[in-house]
Amino acid sequence: MVNWNAKFAARTGRMRRSSIREILKLTQRPDVISFAGGLPAPELFPIEQIRAAADRVLTERGAGALQYSTSEGIPELRSYLAARMSRPGLTVSPDNILIVQGGQQAIDLVGRILFDEGDRAIVESPTYLGMLVAWRAYNLNYLVVPTDQHGLITELLPPALRQNPKLMYLVPNFQNPQGVTLSGARRAHLAQLAAEHGSVILEDNPYGDLRYSGEDLPSLYAVDAQVRGLSELNGGVIYTSSFSKILAPGLRMAWIAAPVPVIDKLVQAKQGADLQCNTFSQYIAYEVCKDGFIDAHILRLRDAYRQRRDVMLAALEREFPEEARWSKPDGGLFLMVHVPQHINATELLKEAIERKVAYVPGDDFHVEGGQNTFRLNYSNASPEMIEEGIRRLGALLKEVIVRQPA
Ligand SMILES: Cc1ncc(COP(=O)(O)O)c(C=O)c1O
Repeated sequence: MVNWNAKFAARTGRMRRSSIREILKLTQRPDVISFAGGLPAPELFPIEQIRAAADRVLTERGAGALQYSTSEGIPELRSYLAARMSRPGLTVSPDNILIVQGGQQAIDLVGRILFDEGDRAIVESPTYLGMLVAWRAYNLNYLVVPTDQHGLITELLPPALRQNPKLMYLVPNFQNPQGVTLSGARRAHLAQLAAEHGSVILEDNPYGDLRYSGEDLPSLYAVDAQVRGLSELNGGVIYTSSFSKILAPGLRMAWIAAPVPVIDKLVQAKQGADLQCNTFSQYIAYEVCKDGFIDAHILRLRDAYRQRRDVMLAALEREFPEEARWSKPDGGLFLMVHVPQHINATELLKEAIERKVAYVPGDDFHVEGGQNTFRLNYSNASPEMIEEGIRRLGALLKEVIVRQPA
């Protein structure tokens, strides 16, 4: 027998399987109501439009749709996204855009080009689990900044900024896991502080189009350009967004928008990773975008997910014990529940699954702590299933609070 463990690189010792994926395996049984994954509603995937787009792509482009294409991405999609991201007074050029294989690849590639082992990075607490997984190999020193209902508390940033971090990573809209949104005032403060300290930001925005209440807020790349007085995208923000939540995650289509020198370096990293994105998927994404279908589809998704969010919030109010509290998102797919400090959400999950309901324990979203938190997804289950699942979870929590007094 070959001892493969003796062959693996030392840095792989820090790698672990994503617990979300492990949990998802347990919850794939049809009788489990799962609030665990971040899955969009499959019944809302626009199968017919994607079928028609695939047909058009093959008819009109033929072999070209199946051939290798450039590492940066197909020019049509880059131009479309550049125009979509441009704002009055701020031009985003196709040269600022790199098409990537999901927002997860964006995070991975940014890590590859920026981090040396042991670098510092500022993150929100809690933060996106997939980022922690992607960057584990670099043994980063995280400077963790707390959040409240208005997102990262920017007043607490200066001490962390003075430690010369390589990067700040933020999900400003409907953050995963909490669903909270960075307020307009804090966006301005953050951009100001970043410019003063020479710091750069990775703005991860897969949920920004999925707003169900409140007003749209400007993206950090736009606020940053304003603070720096720029009319082109050459400031201090690397932006990424994805088609996963607004079209279909299985297409694995996302993009990065960044200053040209950053794109150049990212392209080099992408060439090493996978040469390019799937040509066919890129043309399909472009087809559903170019005639405006995607915008109409986003409106349909907002209506459906708004209803599910409201059903979940009402059910939580009705079914959960008064000792629990939870975030109230204006959009996205998630909210986060806090239970009393002494209740361990990972341990409780076993009992929840026995009662055929599942969530993701919150500690994986924290650099430290979070054992008494869990994330609930409301996009994937029907409103009826949401009500039933929250009822089961509420009954379990009430029992546990009686069984394990503080
Ligand atoms: C904050 C955040 N970033 C990135 C991703 C990656 O998404 P994808 O690779 O499907 O675009 C997710 C997925 O849930 C996410 O929540």
